[in-house]
Amino acid sequence: MAVRDIVLLGDPVLREPAREVETFDEELQTLVDDMFATMVVAEGAGLAAPQVGVSLRVLVADVRHSEGEHARAALVNPRVVENGSELDKEPEGCLSIPGVREVVERPWSVVVEGTDPAGEPVRIEAEGLWARVLQHEIDHLNGVLFIDHLSPLKRRMLLKRYRKLRSEEDAGS
Ligand code: NI
Repeated sequence: MAVRDIVLLGDPVLREPAREVETFDEELQTLVDDMFATMVVAEGAGLAAPQVGVSLRVLVADVRHSEGEHARAALVNPRVVENGSELDKEPEGCLSIPGVREVVERPWSVVVEGTDPAGEPVRIEAEGLWARVLQHEIDHLNGVLFIDHLSPLKRRMLLKRYRKLRSEEDAGS
C-alpha cells in the first residue's frame, strides 16, 4: 500500500469525466488500497480516483457517524440511481481544495449502485453524512467539484480565501 499525492484545484484531471472501469484486476485493487491509505493520511471522509491523478470511476469513503455508526465502501462505476426528496445543508470541504469549507445543499438521502473492486454488484441506501460523502465523490467522477454547487458570489469568495491561503503557504515554504 502506498500513499499517493493528492492533486489540487487547477489540475485538469479534476475536471475530466472519469473513464468507466472495465478490467477488475490486481491493478484496480492496488489503486483502491492506495486510495484508502491516502484518504486516512489526509484525514478525509472520501476520495475519488481523479484526486490521485487517475481518471477512472473509482471512489473510497469512510464515515464515522456521531452515534458510533461506521460506513465504509470502495465503489467502482458508482452512480446515483435515486435522489431523496428531502434536502440538507451542511458545510463541505475537499482534499483537493484544502483549507476552505462552505455549506452545500444536497439531497439528504440517495441510492447508489455500482460494483465492488471485484466486480460484484453493490447497492447502497445512504442517508445524512454518508449520502453527502457519496454524492461528493461521485461528483468528482463527473468532473464536478463542491464549489460548483455554490452561488457565483459564494464561489468567488471561497476561491479568494483559498488563493490567499495558498499564497501564504507558498510564502512560508
Ligand atoms: Ni472532494
